[in-house]
Amino acid sequence: MSISSTPQGVSVSPRHVSFDVTEELKTLWHGNDAFRTAFFNALSLQFPDGEQHFIDAVRLYRDRIDDPKLSQEIRGFIGQEALHSREHKSYNEALKARSYDIHAIDERFRRHMKWVTRLSPSRRLAGTCGAEHYTAVLANAILRYPEWMEGATPTMKKLWRWHAIEETEHKSVAFDVYRECVGDDRLRRVVFLFVTYNFFKYTFLNTCSLLKTEGKLWSLRTWLGGINFLWGKPGILRSCLPEFLAYFRKDFHPWQQDNRALLADTLAELDRDYNATSIFRQEPDI
Ligand SMILES: [Fe+2]
Ligand SMILES: [Fe+2]
Repeated sequence: MSISSTPQGVSVSPRHVSFDVTEELKTLWHGNDAFRTAFFNALSLQFPDGEQHFIDAVRLYRDRIDDPKLSQEIRGFIGQEALHSREHKSYNEALKARSYDIHAIDERFRRHMKWVTRLSPSRRLAGTCGAEHYTAVLANAILRYPEWMEGATPTMKKLWRWHAIEETEHKSVAFDVYRECVGDDRLRRVVFLFVTYNFFKYTFLNTCSLLKTEGKLWSLRTWLGGINFLWGKPGILRSCLPEFLAYFRKDFHPWQQDNRALLADTLAELDRDYNATSIFRQEPDI
């Protein structure tokens, strides 16, 4: 029996797409709202280095996996994350048009990632599983709750949905590698505490840096609107809280949240929207 737990009907395979968001990133692309735009941009700023680290952490264990299905999924995972990293690099580059000090923001996060790469392989992989859990839960919410992206410009919506689809598809790959090669459940959960702290810390700091350039860092109205967006209504983080916390369960597994139907519905919807030769639904090419 395969040690991969990606369920039937889900294929982990990169889609070779690229998005030109240069013009949209010159604007407050999320409904002309400074906080919402800054929040999503703050996430994007962590992706290129973060995702490169996920790839490296899984690669450290790749040779120990004999199972053909999981091996193929590792290839798909690396391909997907490499393309996310590439797209978010150009995204972040384009943000410079709004005079944000992207260099300083990158440097701050890079210092943290440098520290992470000095950890043992098992801790790095545990950290990757934890961070992948955050991306999987947020991805599920982006697909499930259209209000998250309400007001966003069309290409930005498309970019975030593409990323969310692929995060969902590969959500158990690093976890399965960890389970097979490390298997320490206590370490997985302890490291998740650090991942949680750092995820919120850097998302918050990045949001503040971006808002500062917008001249909105001390705007009570901006923050009240932002707090409402995250914790009130629609409360995008509040609604995810139980799923974030599920990771602490001893018997946790990413596919306990079985969102295959949501994934299939989204792909069908995108096929309809973007017409036939869909970039979203494709056969594995690896
Ligand atoms: Fe990704
Ligand atoms: Fe991922």
